Amino acid sequence: MTQVAITDTTLRDAHQSLIATRMRTRDMLPIAEKLDSVGFFSLEVWGGATFDVCIRFLNEDPWDRLRSLAEEIRETPLQMLLRGQNIVGYRHYPDDIVIKFVEKSAENGIDIFRVFDAVNDIRNMEVAISAAKKTGAHVQGTISYTISPVHTIETFVAFARELASLDCDSICIKDMAGLISPHAAYDLIKTLKDEVGLPIDLHSHSTSGMAPMSYLAACEAGVDILDTAFSPFAGGTSQPPTETVVAGLYGTPYDTGLDLALLTEIKEYFDGVKEKYMGILDPVSEKIDTSVLIHQIPGGMLSNLVSQLKEQNAMDRYGDVLREMPKVREDLGYPPLVTPTSQIVGTQAVLNVMMGERYKVIPKEVRDYVRGIYGRPPAPINKQLLAKVLGDDTAVTCRPADLLPPELEMRTKEAEELGIVRKEEDILTYAIYPQIAPKFLRGEAEEETLQPAATAATSGSGVHAHGMFNKFKVVVDGEAFVVEVEPTGTGEMAVAAGDAKPAHASVEGGISSNMHGMVLGLKVSKGDAVEEGDVVAVIEAMKMENNIHSPHSGIVREIFVSEGDTVGAGANLMSVY
Ligand code: CO
Repeated sequence: MTQVAITDTTLRDAHQSLIATRMRTRDMLPIAEKLDSVGFFSLEVWGGATFDVCIRFLNEDPWDRLRSLAEEIRETPLQMLLRGQNIVGYRHYPDDIVIKFVEKSAENGIDIFRVFDAVNDIRNMEVAISAAKKTGAHVQGTISYTISPVHTIETFVAFARELASLDCDSICIKDMAGLISPHAAYDLIKTLKDEVGLPIDLHSHSTSGMAPMSYLAACEAGVDILDTAFSPFAGGTSQPPTETVVAGLYGTPYDTGLDLALLTEIKEYFDGVKEKYMGILDPVSEKIDTSVLIHQIPGGMLSNLVSQLKEQNAMDRYGDVLREMPKVREDLGYPPLVTPTSQIVGTQAVLNVMMGERYKVIPKEVRDYVRGIYGRPPAPINKQLLAKVLGDDTAVTCRPADLLPPELEMRTKEAEELGIVRKEEDILTYAIYPQIAPKFLRGEAEEETLQPAATAATSGSGVHAHGMFNKFKVVVDGEAFVVEVEPTGTGEMAVAAGDAKPAHASVEGGISSNMHGMVLGLKVSKGDAVEEGDVVAVIEAMKMENNIHSPHSGIVREIFVSEGDTVGAGANLMSVY
C-alpha cells in the first residue's frame, strides 16, 4: 500500500537551485512522457524563477513551455509555485493581474497551485488562493518555514488554520533553506496533522544535509507528500534525490510504490542533461554547507550573493556579508528568507558592508518592506530603522494590495500600443515584467550562450558574452580564457584591474552611481534644474531599485548614460553644476 506520495521538482526547483533555472524546454520534453508514467503525486514544472529566466535569458515563452509539457504529461498533475500577490515577480501586483494570471495558468495546464508568501501574511495569499480554487485546481497553502525567536509550532499551526479556513486542499511546509531538523519536522507535522487535519507536504532542501533524516522523521509523523528531485539535479541546495527517498522507504509502511528501475532510466536521461549545464553549475551549490544553519540563506540565494559580490568586485567581503545578514534580518523583524525577502535582506546586508556604514543606502524595496508594503513582518521592525525610513510618514497597516489600483486594462492598452500582443497571455507577461517583456515579445531577445564546462573542448575562436557575471570567454588558438570585465559609464568595456578609476571620475559636478548595476531610469534631462537631494536616476542592482540623489544643486549639463546601460560602481552618470 502506498503511504507516502512524491512530488518531483526536477523541472522547477531543482534546476532553479543548482543551475540558476537555466534548463531549457527542449531538455524537458523528451523525458516528459516517461515522467508521466512514474505515478508521482505531481510534477513541479512552473513558477518561481522559471518565468523570469525564460524571458530574460532563454528567449523562451514560459506559456509555451507549460502548454508543451501539458501536452505530454496527461496523467500526472502539473504543479506551479506561486508567490501569492507577487505572482512570479518580486513585488505585489494588483488583484486583477493576480486573478487573470491564475486563470490563465490553470487554462494552460496547471493543476496544483502551491501558494506562499514570504512573511506568511495571509492577506498576500487570499486573492491567489480564491482565484485558484475557482478554477477547480488543488490549492496547496504554504507555510514559509524558518527558525527565529518568533517562529514557533503555535504560530505555524495558527497560520495553517488560516490557510485551512480559505479551503486549501493541503498544506506545504516550505523549508527553502533546508533548516528543518528531524525533531522539528516530526513535531510540526504531527501537530498539524492532529490540529488542522489537511494532507501535509514537506518541501525541503539538502543544503544543511539534514533533509533526508527530516524526511524519514516526517514519514513517522504522518507526512503525506515529500518533495524530491532526480539525483543528477538533487542534493546540495536542491531537494533530496527521488531515487534515494523511494529506495529508502521501500518495504516500510511509508513505501511510495514507485518503480526504482523506471526512476533509474529517467535518472540516466538527466545525467545527460546535466552534462550540458556543467559550465554554469557552481560546485558550491552541490555541496553540503552547514553554515546555512547560522545564516539561513536559501538554495539559490547563496550563489546569487556570490555573483552580486563578484559584480561589485568584492568577494573578499563575503564573510562580512554573511555575518551582517542575520543582523539585518533581526532589524527587519525576522522575515523567512525566500523571494523576495531573501533579496531584500541580502541586498541590504551587501550595501551595509560595501558602504562602510549600516543603512547609509536603503533601496526602495527595503524602504517599502519597512513601511509594510510587503505585509506584516513576523516581529516589529527595529525602531531606529523604522524612524529613519518613515520620517513623517505612517506605516501601512491595511492589506498591501488594497493600495494598488487595477492595472489590467492599462497594461492591455499599453501592450497593444507596443504591438506585442499575439495571445492574451502576452499581456500578463508584459504586466509582470514591463521592463524586459517588450524586447522578448518583439522577438528581439537572444538565448544566452551556454558556457561550456572548463574541461569541455571548444572550437573556433572569438569572444562570447556570458550573460550572468560580465564574464567573457575568450578563445585563443583553441584555448579558452575567462576574462572578467567591468563596464564603465561610457559603455566602453574595460578589463577590471586593481584600483582603476572609472571613466569621467574628474568630471565637473559629476554624479556617480554608488554601485554596479543597470540604469533603470533617468529622472532628469539635459538642461533641467536639480535641487540637492533630488532623485536623478534609478539604478537596478541585485534586482533592487536604488535611487541616486544629487549631492548638490545645479543644472544638468551632460548625461553620460542611457536607460538600460550597465554601469560600474563609481561611474559618472551625469554632470550637474
Ligand atoms: Co524550494
